[in-house]
Amino acid sequence: MSGIPDLHTEVAPFEVRDGCLCVGGKTVVEIMSGVGSVPAYLYDANIIRDRIETLRKSLPDAMSLHYAMKANPMPEVVNLVARLVDGLDIASGGELEVAVKSGCDPKAMSLAGPGKKDWELKAAIDAGITINVESPNELERIGALSTDGSANVALRVNPDFELKSSGMRMSGGPKPFGIDSEMIPDVLKRLGELPVHFRGFHVFTGAQNLRPESICDAQVKSLELALDLSKHAPSPPEFVNIGGGFGIPYFPGDEPLDISSICENLGQLSAKLESAHPGCELVIELGRYLVGEAGVYVSRVIDKKVSRGHTYLVTDGGLHHHLSASGNFGQVIRKNYPVAVANKIGSADTELASVVGPLCTPLDLLGSKMELARADVGDLIAVFQSGAYGYTASPHLFLSHPPPLQLLL
Ligand SMILES: Cc1ncc(COP(=O)(O)O)c(C=O)c1O
Repeated sequence: MSGIPDLHTEVAPFEVRDGCLCVGGKTVVEIMSGVGSVPAYLYDANIIRDRIETLRKSLPDAMSLHYAMKANPMPEVVNLVARLVDGLDIASGGELEVAVKSGCDPKAMSLAGPGKKDWELKAAIDAGITINVESPNELERIGALSTDGSANVALRVNPDFELKSSGMRMSGGPKPFGIDSEMIPDVLKRLGELPVHFRGFHVFTGAQNLRPESICDAQVKSLELALDLSKHAPSPPEFVNIGGGFGIPYFPGDEPLDISSICENLGQLSAKLESAHPGCELVIELGRYLVGEAGVYVSRVIDKKVSRGHTYLVTDGGLHHHLSASGNFGQVIRKNYPVAVANKIGSADTELASVVGPLCTPLDLLGSKMELARADVGDLIAVFQSGAYGYTASPHLFLSHPPPLQLLL
C-alpha cells in the first residue's frame, strides 16, 4: 500500500478509498465519526479469514491449528476465529469464559500458563478442557480437585533447547513455564497414580520468529522430545502440541515469514507422529500470526506543535492504549511500528514528524521521526500490525484517560 513508510514491509491488504484507509469496507473517517471522541482498535474480519484460510491450505490436512486467545481475546474475534480453527489455547479463567461461549468443542481447548488458581483449574475440569500442567505442584492440586477422575491433563515441557532468533524465548534453561524435560519421567509416573486422564504433551519454545529454519528446527526437536517422553507415559499421547512461534513483520527491515518450508516440515512431522502413535493429533498454536496484521489502532491528532525544529503530532491515543507500539512491551531498542495518516494515504505532501500521546512521559511515543503525510489537527493516525497484544496488553488506567474502543468489522 502506498503512503506507508518505505522501510516497513507492505502491511496487510487493507483497502484504500480516495486516500482513506478502509477497514471492513468502511473508511476510517466514517468509522471514527461513529465511535465518539476516543481512539479505537479496528479489526478486519475478512483479513483474519483470509489469513487463516491461506495458512490452512498450506498446512498438512492431518494436523490441528489452535488459536492462542491471549493475542486477541475480544469475544467477537474469538467467535470468528473459533469457527476457522480446530481449537483454542486459553491463558486464564477470563479467557476460558469467552472460549466456552464461542461454541468451540471444550475437548479441543487447553488451559496453559503458570500460577493457575484453584477456581480456574476447577472451571477447566468442569468444562472438560485439558489443563497443560506447568509444575509438579500444580499436578498435585489438579489431582486433589479431580475427585471423580475427570480432569484431562497434558504436561507442558520446558525442553533444554530454545527457539533460536526469537522475539520471545520461552524455553531452555530455567523457566517459569512448563516442567523441565529431565523431570518429566518422574512426573509421568506420579500422574499415573492420580485420578486424572493423560492426554499429551505441550512444548512451547518461543514467539515472534521470522526465520523459518529456526521454527523448523524447534518443531523437529519438540516432536522428538515428546516421542521420547511418551515412553514414560501411562497411556499413548492423544496429542502433541509443538507450539508456534510464527512472527509478523513489525519493524523496518522485517520481512514476512515464508511458511512454505515450515508447512513442508510439519507434513513430515505429522507422518512421523502418525507412524509412532496412530491417531495422535499434531497441534500448533498461533496467536499473532492469525490476527496481528488484521488490526489497526486509530487515534486523532489533537495538537500539532514544533519544538526546536521538530514536528510533533499529539494524539488522543498512546502508550496507555498501545504499549507495544510505544516500544515498552519487550523491545530492547525502540523501533517504529508501521504508522500512517489514515485519511491521507498516498499523499505526496509529507513531513518528518513524531507521533506522541497525551501522557506526561517521554515513553509515550507511537512513531519517532517518521516520514508521514503532512497532518493537521483532526486527522487520523493509524498504527498497523495492531491486531494482537494491543488492547489487552496496555495499561488503560494510566493517567485516567478513557479506554479505546474495539470493533470487528
Ligand atoms: C503458551 C503460549 N502459546 C501461544 C502463544 C502465542 O504466541 P504468538 O501470539 O506469538 O503466536 C504464547 C505467547 O506468549 C504462549 O505463551
